[in-house]
Amino acid sequence: MKVIVTGGAGFIGSAVCRLMTGLKGYEVLNIDKLTYAGDLRTLASISARDNYHFAHQDICNRDAIVKIFDDFQPDAVMHLAAESHVDRSIDGPADFIQTNVVGTFNLLDVARAYFDKLPADKRSQFRFHHISTDEVYGSLGSEGLFTEETAYAPTSPYSASKASSDHLVQAWHHTYGLPIVISNCSNNYGPYQFPEKLIPLMALNLLHGKKLPVYGEGLNTRDWLHVEDHAEALVKILTEGRIGEKYNVGGCNELTNIDVVKRIFDTVQEIVPDISFENFDEAVTYVKDRPGHDWRYAIDPTKMQNELGWKPKYDFETGLRQTIEWYVNNREWWEPILKSKYAGERLGSAKGQADA
Ligand code: NAD
Ligand code: DAU
Repeated sequence: MKVIVTGGAGFIGSAVCRLMTGLKGYEVLNIDKLTYAGDLRTLASISARDNYHFAHQDICNRDAIVKIFDDFQPDAVMHLAAESHVDRSIDGPADFIQTNVVGTFNLLDVARAYFDKLPADKRSQFRFHHISTDEVYGSLGSEGLFTEETAYAPTSPYSASKASSDHLVQAWHHTYGLPIVISNCSNNYGPYQFPEKLIPLMALNLLHGKKLPVYGEGLNTRDWLHVEDHAEALVKILTEGRIGEKYNVGGCNELTNIDVVKRIFDTVQEIVPDISFENFDEAVTYVKDRPGHDWRYAIDPTKMQNELGWKPKYDFETGLRQTIEWYVNNREWWEPILKSKYAGERLGSAKGQADA
């Protein structure tokens, strides 16, 4: 199966490329613009494989994407390329609209023209898999779970742009018959995550003796899934999911942020006993909340389990330890990022109001 993966130099896309190029029968072409979040070093272990290819390209560049489709002749597309960080979407939404909305439109338009020209046997195999987020459903209160039937109610520029892209993908299916499938996943963690996100940010802060900036009171809740479990779910959805369907992916690991940060603290302290702080309370600083901060996300993954027989391999404790060990042992990956791309500063319209 020849698969175009967009955003394959990012956190989740690179896990998908590493997984699929190690499976029998797959040939992968990764299209990535290499924004601040894209990093070819995440693909070093597979870059010499015969079944892996890379195109340095923007999904918004229609002519270039048409040529890539014509040359590669994909059987499927897995669309992960996106601006992915909520705080950055608060500071600068334009890139989110451009890549997540216009870029997805562009890819759909190219895929549709390509699909229409395919011979019948190839058309019946073709899939466009759009990778999305649970944030399209908005925020939960203290009860309930997001199912595939939950109404869309995005709240941040990021989630609104992802919801827009989901709607475009559905429209291309209903109007033009493009065979699509959509997945909406909860918060991922694991190796190679850009250090703007909660778990790597906190771990690297501790390694540098820097305080842990918890937004608000730290009681917002997220539902965590290891990135390798997500990548396996995505391959299953691509190959076994029903056309036109949505699948919610989550690990049933609901935790408040303060609980996650405490677990990070305990794990780092165990692995690196000489960190600068005596105890957790000394390490934490409660900072001004994220504007419009969604309270709680939690996925009901019943459809994934019952229909596709998927379940995650990592429990949160094992996955968190593996992730933190990876960051401790792979300084050469994140040190250049901290030096040249992102030094751990507060993002998301809270400038000058850091510590409460
Ligand atoms: P990421 O920010 O780590 O990676 C995004 C990748 O897309 C980067 O390699 C970047 O260079 C590339 N990219 C950005 N704009 C592009 C463009 N115009 N053309 C081509 N490439 C471009 O993101 P991630 O965390 O790996 O997320 C991947 C996808 O999964 C996104 O669609 C995101 O919305 C979705 N998602 C993420 C999570 C999560 O917890 N990280 C959870 C659910 C869904
Ligand atoms: O739910 C899926 C989404 O999860 C994905 O679609 C997004 O791409 C991904 O970035 C993630 O969004 P979040 O906003 O939930 O992730 P983030 O790591 O930015 O924050 C997790 C929680 O931690 C959130 O409630 C905000 C809080 N937080 C975050 C940072 C960076 C803090 O308290 N302090 C921080 O410094």
